[in-house]
Amino acid sequence: MTMKKWHNISGLRGSAKAALPLPVFDYIDGGAEDELSLHDATRAFDRYDIIPRMLMDVSQVSSQTEIFGRRIEFPVMLAPTGLTRLFHKEAELGVARAATAAGLPYCLSTLGTTTIEDFADAVPGSKLFQIYIFKDRGLTEEFVERARACKYDGLVLTADTLVGGKRERDLANGLSLPPRLTMRGFLGFAAKPRWSLPALFGSKFDFVNVAHRVAAMSAGPTTLQDYVAGQFDRTVTWKDVEWLAGKWGGPLAVKGILHPGDAVTALESGADTVMVSNHGGRQIDTAAAPIDQIAPIADAVGGRMKIICDGGIRRGSHILKALALGADAVSIGRPYLYGLAAAGSTGVSRAIDILRDEFDRCMVLSGATCPDDLNRELVRPHIGA
Ligand code: FNR
Repeated sequence: MTMKKWHNISGLRGSAKAALPLPVFDYIDGGAEDELSLHDATRAFDRYDIIPRMLMDVSQVSSQTEIFGRRIEFPVMLAPTGLTRLFHKEAELGVARAATAAGLPYCLSTLGTTTIEDFADAVPGSKLFQIYIFKDRGLTEEFVERARACKYDGLVLTADTLVGGKRERDLANGLSLPPRLTMRGFLGFAAKPRWSLPALFGSKFDFVNVAHRVAAMSAGPTTLQDYVAGQFDRTVTWKDVEWLAGKWGGPLAVKGILHPGDAVTALESGADTVMVSNHGGRQIDTAAAPIDQIAPIADAVGGRMKIICDGGIRRGSHILKALALGADAVSIGRPYLYGLAAAGSTGVSRAIDILRDEFDRCMVLSGATCPDDLNRELVRPHIGA
């Protein structure tokens, strides 16, 4: 298969749609309720125009930057996504190979399908672990210790998932855990038998990092899925973030922040990075687009913490706009998942290469030689929107 047939992220999305049973594609592609936040996260980039500078000697361009205490090749990280094995048998290790080859950090999800230890063995480069503060603080502490033992660079605390968003495509398909397929969902799997049979019966989609907790419970009918669902704790506050920062003592990001006041509180609670995010439009529908909150958050934190713009990135120009408005890097979820579903690890590499090529081109055409050259003079609100 020639990777060059994909010219943009939208092309990879089309191939992912063709490869996957509908319920699985919808799980990746969908958002909450009317999917307004999902679509607006990308559309919002069109509300900013680039005002490029000319004749700036751009013969030497470097896209390198630093996040989580490491230099990275260009300002992109791969966001945590759960259930990755459902999308391709190469799962997280396939994604990790592509991220490592490109010199980019990749964050393993708590609800991933590879263990913290196997992931660490496979990723010699920058690796992060996404964590929740669970009702059972002992489980959170255990994750901190396992991440420390495996020399992870940083933790990402997801703050916006006290309850799952109302994802209506999943409801229509009956894609729950465990699955209770509707006719539409069943037909979606039946239409792709070559994918469905080995994937459904040959692999385990368990949350491998928490499975031992359930296995250790002496009695009771608890399933792994019920156990995980029961662990989301609505009593969590910033005091718990302070507690986590103290336990971990290393680079810590809070993910899911949209309000400048919350970014400042994250800083005061011991985080050094904020991921400005609405969870890819999967949680509260009509939550603000991350790109619109970058400038207010950059103003509020005044350079005291790193800012990552998470969500809606589909073009190199989106990365340029996020950095110009004050982000240090961006993170991507669906773009690499579309690549994974389309062609495994090589598809992830293609997604990364597309964004890198577009971003580098945009830097040159804007007269920028490094990410530090990107500032607010380079963008202005679109006139006539
Ligand atoms: C996610 N996301 C996510 N976030 C998180 O903190 N823990 C998780 O387990 C998951 N799982 C997950 C699964 C799938 C299929 C998707 C698409 C997303 C959210 C993810 O980290 C990121 O915030 C968004 O994907 C960013 O938006 P884009 O890049 O997909 O537009």
